[in-house]
Amino acid sequence: MDIQAVDDMFAVAVAASGEGRQDDAEAAFRAVLVMSPGHDEALFGLGLNLMIARRFQEAVEPLALAAQAPDAEPVRHQCLAHALFLTGAFTRAAETFAAADAIAPLPESPRLTWARAAAYAALDQSPAEAALDVYARIAGPLAEDLGTVAREGFGVLVAFDRLDAARALGAWLEARDPDDKIRAHELRVLVDPSIDRAPPAYVEALFDDFAERFDRQLVEMLGYRAPALLADLVATRRTRFERILDLGCGTGLAAPSLERFGAELTGVDLSSAMLAKAVERGGYDHLVQAEAIDFLKSQPGAFDLILAADVLIYFGDLAALFAAAAEALAPGGLLAASTELGETGWRLLPTARYAHGDDYVEATSAPGFRIVERQEIPLRRETTAVTTGCLYLLERL
Ligand SMILES: C[S@@+](CC[C@H](N)C(=O)[O-])C[C@H]1O[C@@H](n2cnc3c(N)ncnc32)[C@H](O)[C@@H]1O
Repeated sequence: MDIQAVDDMFAVAVAASGEGRQDDAEAAFRAVLVMSPGHDEALFGLGLNLMIARRFQEAVEPLALAAQAPDAEPVRHQCLAHALFLTGAFTRAAETFAAADAIAPLPESPRLTWARAAAYAALDQSPAEAALDVYARIAGPLAEDLGTVAREGFGVLVAFDRLDAARALGAWLEARDPDDKIRAHELRVLVDPSIDRAPPAYVEALFDDFAERFDRQLVEMLGYRAPALLADLVATRRTRFERILDLGCGTGLAAPSLERFGAELTGVDLSSAMLAKAVERGGYDHLVQAEAIDFLKSQPGAFDLILAADVLIYFGDLAALFAAAAEALAPGGLLAASTELGETGWRLLPTARYAHGDDYVEATSAPGFRIVERQEIPLRRETTAVTTGCLYLLERL
């Protein structure tokens, strides 16, 4: 082995990583490992690089090998534990955090992740109360409010399809706060997949609670771009409109993309907190707090474009929504809507959102519309995978 060549390539990898050129860094770390298999610093670098790229599952193996090196620093165990946590391997994550803590006491943030991992793992054999005791014991004086921990855990466990554990935490939360509309519905979803739409009271509470974090979480963390992509799709067919409705407008992410059409813009949403954000963003001539179908029914023939970005995911059965949208559009008007793409029909997901198959969208919209464009997109980067969405452009008959 040419030690100088290995060192040079390792330096290239570190420099590329430092400059944010992750693809180059990955290639260089892998080249080091070809020349020098088991090079533990390259394994660690590769693992970190894969973590930055959110390829957590792939990161586990190099990080595990790097952590096995003699005298591996505690940070290597911590990174491995974190990668395991992010892949949903909570038992192994908790064991690895414990091993790291035995070498050197964990700082605050990894200690709290350890406490969560151990609690989520404990839910396999123990009731929620006992699992949360595990959390409190490990977190010690750093422990956060148990309701917050349980709410977050519920979402994480649903994302990893650990539905029994999620139900246990959901029931604990419901017993603690029977008036929590968000939890009550999300728990009901896990036991009754026949619910055919999200109740308005749930949607309102959910988004009132979410409004402050919505833009950062959706756009920056989940890579959400449906409003802009829908507007681009519309522009391929038509570039001027008189009156546009942004249905379920939320914080108004669509407004900047709709400006080019030169229309009077109305936004409608159930959540006052989301509407307040849309007011701040600007771009709307009217913002109305109302339920989508009720509002559509009150506006016969009023719009020539209706945009519904990430709103159909709160309706299972779309028949009433399509009928009301057709009523609110002038003849020849367009409905641009996104779905979470399902295989067939509609399906209530454990996330409390709905997925719709192409067959269902086509059949249900048919009385009032014909589909003129369809485009699959990566909708959101979720905890475990990228969710595929579908954009539809429908023309009112
Ligand atoms: C995921 S957000 C999307 C917001 C915005 N369209 C965007 O793409 O950024 C869904 C929005 O639809 C609203 N919404 C869901 N169901 C609704 C309904 N039945 N009536 C009115 N608004 C609704 C929610 O309050 C929320 O603001």
